[in-house]
Formats: sequence, structure tokens, C-alpha cells
Amino acid sequence: MIFRQFIDPETSTHTYLLADESTRETILIDPVLEQFERDRTLLRELDLSLRYTLETHVHADHITAAALFRTEEGSEIGVSAAAGVKTADLELDEGDEIRIGSTTLEVCSTPGHTDGCVSYICRAQGMAFTGDALLIRGCGRTDFQQGDASLLFSSVRNKIFALPDETLVFPGHDYKGRMVTSVAEEKRCNPRLGLDKSEADFVAIMKRLDLAYPKQIDVAVPANLKCGLLEIPSGSPLPQSASAAAKPVASVMEEQGRQDAELDES
Ligand SMILES: [Fe+2]
Repeated sequence: MIFRQFIDPETSTHTYLLADESTRETILIDPVLEQFERDRTLLRELDLSLRYTLETHVHADHITAAALFRTEEGSEIGVSAAAGVKTADLELDEGDEIRIGSTTLEVCSTPGHTDGCVSYICRAQGMAFTGDALLIRGCGRTDFQQGDASLLFSSVRNKIFALPDETLVFPGHDYKGRMVTSVAEEKRCNPRLGLDKSEADFVAIMKRLDLAYPKQIDVAVPANLKCGLLEIPSGSPLPQSASAAAKPVASVMEEQGRQDAELDES
């Protein structure tokens, strides 16, 4: 399998590329609109064919590039059926499998940060893409978008921590330059969800965070509920190409990173 990990410096969002070496079929997990050209360039350079874009959840801090890739590359959009997203091509449920060549991704429902959060598990390769359910030494916030700390505790403990200890965990964000962790590492070292914490401890920690309302949630969430389809304000000049449509969005999407998945390590 071909594997690449990207970061969007504005929002510290990780995007992942998985491709089958023989068929060249490719999946992008959580592509960011402003990074469309970066990702498309690599597809071209490696002679890859984008088959699917998969979302781990409806993001509040950035707009997905899913709709733009569908338009430009003919890819299909996969998102949790529980996320309430309109116009997705694949509405994913627990246990669903997405295949590219000999590589299989399994859908694992991990709600709590949002009620439509899923993780994608690559069992043969021992990899888990956890979105904001489990971050490195942290987790996504649980105080908006139907967030539920008890539910997130259950998702992490019963789903992600049930994977083999050596499973590599690739998160949806990292704000400190870290790229990957493991199930064993987070069981031992996660200050919120480690095995030394009870559900009551976790709920109390999340309640104490008292985070600011995300500045861009009112822009990003409505767009992501339509797979990132853009609504250009009336009176604005129409973009010359689909990829140029990212520009007006970039201008209104201030850096917001930590607000989607605040990473207080207390
Ligand atoms: Fe998020």
C-alpha cells in the first residue's frame, strides 16, 4: 500500500492518502479544501486514481475538499450515515468495508465528539484513522455538534482501545507537530482517556475545559453538511474554475485550529 500523511498548517488537520500499488486506486481521508491542489498534484505525480474521499466527521474548523474532488476527479464521497450529510455517495455504517485493490478499510462508529464520527480501520496494516475521537494525548471537544463525553469515553475504550496494542493511530489533528501514536501508547499516556481514568474523571475533565465557541463553525458545518459544496455570497465574482472556489473560503476561514479539538493536556 502507498501511504502518505499531510498536514494543513492553518488548522493542523491531517489528511491521509492510501493507494493500492497495483490498481492505483486511491482514498483520501479528510481532504481540506484549501489543500486541494497539493493533494491533486501528488495524485498526478504518483499516477494515482482517486476513487473515494472519506470523512471522519462533519468538521467545524475547515471545509472538506470532497465535493471539489468529486467534480474534478470523479471520486465518490463517503461519510457516516449518522452525520446527516446530504449528497454523499456512500452513507457508511458500522462494519462497512471500503476496498481499493487488496486494501480494505473498515468503518468503525466512534461517536462522542460528534454523533456522526467514524474511525477507519486498516486491520491488515495495523492502522486506525480516528479523526477527532482520539488524538495524540487528547481528544476532540465534546461541547458542540451533539458532543457527548460519556459516549466518546465509550467509543475510545470499547472500540479504539479494543484494537491490538500495536495498532498505529493516525489522528484528525495535531497541534504540536506529532504525526502518529499507538493504541498502547494512548492507553498508557493519554491524560484524558488513559486506562488510569474513569468515565467520571473524563466527563469532569471535558466539562472543565470551558472552551470558546468555534469562530468558523457557522461557515464550515453548513458547507460540510453538503460535502463542502460552496455557496459564494451573492455579488461576489464567480470563480474562474472549481479549484479557484477555495479562495473566497480561505479568506473567511481564519486560523481556528485548536478550537475544533482543543488539546489542553491537563
Ligand atoms: Fe472535529
